[in-house]
Amino acid sequence: MGWQLRKFNICVYISGSGSNLKSILENIDNKTLNSNVSLVISSCKNAGGMKFSIERSIPTFYLNRKELSLCAEEFASKQLELLKENNIDLIVLAGYLKKLSKRVIREYKGKIINIHPALLPNYGGKEMYGMNVHRAVFANGDKISGPTVHFVDEIYDNGETIIQRSVDISECKSPEEIQKTVLKVEHQVYTEAIKLLESKID
Ligand code: GRF
Repeated sequence: MGWQLRKFNICVYISGSGSNLKSILENIDNKTLNSNVSLVISSCKNAGGMKFSIERSIPTFYLNRKELSLCAEEFASKQLELLKENNIDLIVLAGYLKKLSKRVIREYKGKIINIHPALLPNYGGKEMYGMNVHRAVFANGDKISGPTVHFVDEIYDNGETIIQRSVDISECKSPEEIQKTVLKVEHQVYTEAIKLLESKID
């Protein structure tokens, strides 16, 4: 018995354009990653990213607690049902704008990762998501930013860092330019982080 790469059954949670989901799927297609995406959950009905999993016939669900009129417990149960049915052993948050249910976080402890578009612990916390992050970085005149991939616990942007990559943003003239520059690197580091987990020996 030699050393073997792990093969995760991944569930990706999204809310928006899903460019991170797309790049993970492409890196599975081209065998950079050994894992599979077996489930996609979107908090937003019109999330552009859903098309990337639908076109690959990956089970894709729009789950919104308010629209389903579920209490927090019921919503957690609904997700756990889907996660178990699909034998999910790694949850990848990729632009998911909702706070993940506490029970899901507890049951999948150490098996949930997130990508944040700044160098945590800087620019993390409750209101720090999406363009808010890049606007704050720009307002501070930072010359360096970059993504952080980290494990998820019950506190926003708090879990252990897996990979962090500095990106030169000194030429960026707006928060939008920073976002574009950092996003390109996000696509690389998210796959690197998953690869690292695939090769980790317990
Ligand atoms: C990314 O910048 C990610 O870091 C943040 O939300 C954005 C999602 O982009 N959490 P996409 O939906 O993957 O294109």
